[in-house]
Amino acid sequence: MCGIVGYVGSKEAADILISGLRRLEYRGYDSAGIAVFSDGEIAVRKEKGRLSDLEEYMKSAGTPYGNCGIGHTRWATHGEPSYANSHPHSAGRVTLVHNGIIENYIELKKDLEKGGYTFASETDTETAAALLDRLYKGEPIKAIAELTRKIRGSYALAILFSDRPDEIYAVRRDSPLIVGLSNGESFVASDIPAVLKYTRRYYLLDENEIAVLKESGVSVLSLEGESIDKEVFEANWSLEAAEKGGFEHFMLKEIYEEPEALKNTISPHMIGGLPDVLNLSLGDKRLAAVNKIHIVGCGTAMHAGLIGKTAIEKLARTPVEVSVASEFRYVNPIVDKNDLVIVISQSGETADTLAALRLAKKMGAYTLAVVNVVGSSIAREADGALFTSAGPEIAVASTKAYSVQSAVMYLFALRLALVKGTMNENEVAEKSAELAAMPKLIERLIRDLDPTCKKLAEQNKNTESLFFIGRGMDYSLSVEGSLKLKEISYIHSEAYAAGELKHGTISLVTDGVPVIAIATQTPLFEKMISNVKEVKARGAAVTLVCRTDAAIADDVYDNLVLMPEISDLFMPLALAPFIQLFAYHTSVIRGCDVDKPRNLAKSVTVE
Ligand code: G6P
Repeated sequence: MCGIVGYVGSKEAADILISGLRRLEYRGYDSAGIAVFSDGEIAVRKEKGRLSDLEEYMKSAGTPYGNCGIGHTRWATHGEPSYANSHPHSAGRVTLVHNGIIENYIELKKDLEKGGYTFASETDTETAAALLDRLYKGEPIKAIAELTRKIRGSYALAILFSDRPDEIYAVRRDSPLIVGLSNGESFVASDIPAVLKYTRRYYLLDENEIAVLKESGVSVLSLEGESIDKEVFEANWSLEAAEKGGFEHFMLKEIYEEPEALKNTISPHMIGGLPDVLNLSLGDKRLAAVNKIHIVGCGTAMHAGLIGKTAIEKLARTPVEVSVASEFRYVNPIVDKNDLVIVISQSGETADTLAALRLAKKMGAYTLAVVNVVGSSIAREADGALFTSAGPEIAVASTKAYSVQSAVMYLFALRLALVKGTMNENEVAEKSAELAAMPKLIERLIRDLDPTCKKLAEQNKNTESLFFIGRGMDYSLSVEGSLKLKEISYIHSEAYAAGELKHGTISLVTDGVPVIAIATQTPLFEKMISNVKEVKARGAAVTLVCRTDAAIADDVYDNLVLMPEISDLFMPLALAPFIQLFAYHTSVIRGCDVDKPRNLAKSVTVE
């Protein structure tokens, strides 16, 4: 989730690149860099940290003057945030910036090394620069087309060739790029806000298209070099709205980003159709010997651990204990050196989770971090790390991070099942394929659920208290649903294991009390319906969430939400947008500050 910008025209490129990157910093701020044609040569300036660090650095190193250049703000995936890993990357005559993940970079790199190329960074991007340099024989389109055939994964690239001054080349697959149009100048960017100060007219670059930007204008060509007629769009957003991609809030934008985040997280962890989630220092042999797993985290991250527990215990028959990090630290936990401790954290900086990790390490267990921020304390200190690729999450209420953390838990559970022999290779491959297909399905589902959730939110906006009930994985999901609603709409809510209600809490269910009953787990469906009847008999207003083919009488619910036919195992991934959109719309309707709920913070670095 990095940010890319490029400019060619008659103005100072560096100024425009910096101002564009400022509007893209929401896409990552581990490092920033620019490359500008200056006196016939490509001058590169880059610095670890935020854009302001680059600006500070350029005060001493000098700003490269010229009218054509590319810029980048990085969200680290391959290699920690450092000077060497910052973009732009250069090799021979090629200098480029990249957003995305090149999945086959290791094999490409080995091959390029044999051909004499050397690498200064740990990035996948530098491999693309070297490969393009090798392919470049003076014809940029041919070389770029060949590059797209050789690299796998997702990418948006803005490219300079040292012998083609004042020209920028751009190409993309799965990562976004727009081309900004104006008289006497041309722009390329990851997102519209980067260019909105200068122009409102733009093209959406499609896959298998190459844009060539010059001062005189832009041409878009096919990989075969044929000219393509593009539709010109006109942005009518304000700058502020544009930063949110046209969404009213970051939270909504981030829910809609879940399919992409899931895809970016799942695909690099899949090799030959099987999950490959193992950090080098934790091989299959060591994993097979693990007797017990502890999962530790805070808030939403811990809730993803609950999904992990069910998946691991079901598939790999290995016992899992899930703990809140602030408790784990002080209960004198029983951790053996043969145990595996998984810590889950979006930010990688949560104080209690970090302290729990340190304690587990001290007790001799192997520690594995499931973390979104490369270079964070948790990522650096754990014995091994499995990275989620959600991109930056801005809204305080975590949404896409929960989905990708859950996805990594599934991948881990499937790998463990394989090495423990509780599933054979065919069974694991089948489930893995199902998991890999989830992003597409969820994309459709989000669009369908959005209006349904808005309607439900309208119905429940004045309630004082609401219950989520479920069994098994539906219960784990309910716990997150309840947290989401509480934190952003300030409505009191409880999640209850449906069978446990009658042991006390049902006394709170009176006429009109809303109950969201999640009943997607096939073997538990009939039990769930009995529990739903219990609350219905006390006057509850029931929203029943179940599978399309479930046999239900219409006197057990007031609202019905139907989920598509996917396996019980992966249903929480599909249900996550449901509970998130419901909380989101409730918060909006009640006039709350959705992205910055009261008293909360995104990253809690105190105990
Ligand atoms: C805070 C945030 C939550 C988040 C939790 C853990 O409480 O408000 O949204 O789930 O911290 O954060 P982490 O960065 O460790 O996932």
